[in-house]
Amino acid sequence: EHGNIIFDKHVLQELEHIPKEYYWPTQDLVATSQEKLNEPLIDIGVMLKGDEAAIANAAELVRNACMKHGFFQVINHGVDQNLITKAYEELNYILSLPLSKKEAARNIPGTLEGYSGAHAEKYSAKLPWKETFTFNYNHHEESESEVVDYFKSTLGEEFQQTGWVFQAYCKAMKQLVFMVTELLAISLGMDRLQYESYFADGQQTMRLNSYPPCKENNLTLGNGPHTDPTSLTLLHQDHIGGLEVFVDNKWLSVPPRPDAFVINLGDTFMALTNGIYKSCMHRSLVNKEKERTSLVCFVNPRKDNIVRPPEALLGKDAPRKYPDFIWSDLLDYTQTNHRVDESTFESFF
Ligand code: SIN
Ligand code: FE2
Repeated sequence: EHGNIIFDKHVLQELEHIPKEYYWPTQDLVATSQEKLNEPLIDIGVMLKGDEAAIANAAELVRNACMKHGFFQVINHGVDQNLITKAYEELNYILSLPLSKKEAARNIPGTLEGYSGAHAEKYSAKLPWKETFTFNYNHHEESESEVVDYFKSTLGEEFQQTGWVFQAYCKAMKQLVFMVTELLAISLGMDRLQYESYFADGQQTMRLNSYPPCKENNLTLGNGPHTDPTSLTLLHQDHIGGLEVFVDNKWLSVPPRPDAFVINLGDTFMALTNGIYKSCMHRSLVNKEKERTSLVCFVNPRKDNIVRPPEALLGKDAPRKYPDFIWSDLLDYTQTNHRVDESTFESFF
């Protein structure tokens, strides 16, 4: 019974033998394939240039990937590389703080925000070998300093500068969200602005991940196999690597590219396409010697929005695959059902 114990990276990385709560079942630890998921690499810069042939070409690549597994990477995304570097510096700064300091921003179970070490209060086994710091950003901003205010109120006034870096990062993600959703709409044969209003009043949940090195990394995982319940995930991984996607019964690694964002579709976007596009199982491995970090932006509609595919995707020959649902109900469901290792989207209905 580990109850309230939180192991942060200062503790985790020193352990010679990992506590049994961090063991994962052998079926989740199946070895990585030799093949890699390098493709498709999408030049999303074409969206800004307005070259229709190039856009159609990118849309076709996205369509094929999303019908198969829902993962692709984008380059020429317009996000300032210096901002990404600064975000990693702040991530490292925050998660390297002493546990007592991080605990001031400790996550309240049932919510997403704040500091969490291995989500220890939620699960009695299969703990992920990680710690995280999570905050929200609303696309329809009431406040230009929402993220800054969150950092100041949880960690203290001296975290104002950190807050501004992430405020800017979230704003950059918002731009990228609109480029990606336009490309997705085109790839589905719809008007490019089809999903715009849906995401315009939406929200981001931004998560900073640290996966400390692990001497017995063959026994544990940074993230067990899961699909994201959210709509879209915009992920930047550092140079260490460890993200893997389950395609054709094989675990394929997604090689890190500092100039790219990994985009993956979540269960909610799958519902928004009436199941034409897939939300795919993925996991992350932990490195034996090096800490791995990632910046993950989960994108969602407003909490009370009804999730329903556009009429353009529904015909007589395309019956509804999923009933309407409200995003916050799915979110609550995933928060209360201790979901770590499976796609529970279907059991939600
Ligand atoms: C995930 O959130 O599922 C993966 C995150 C990561 O690779 O760091
Ligand atoms: Fe995920």
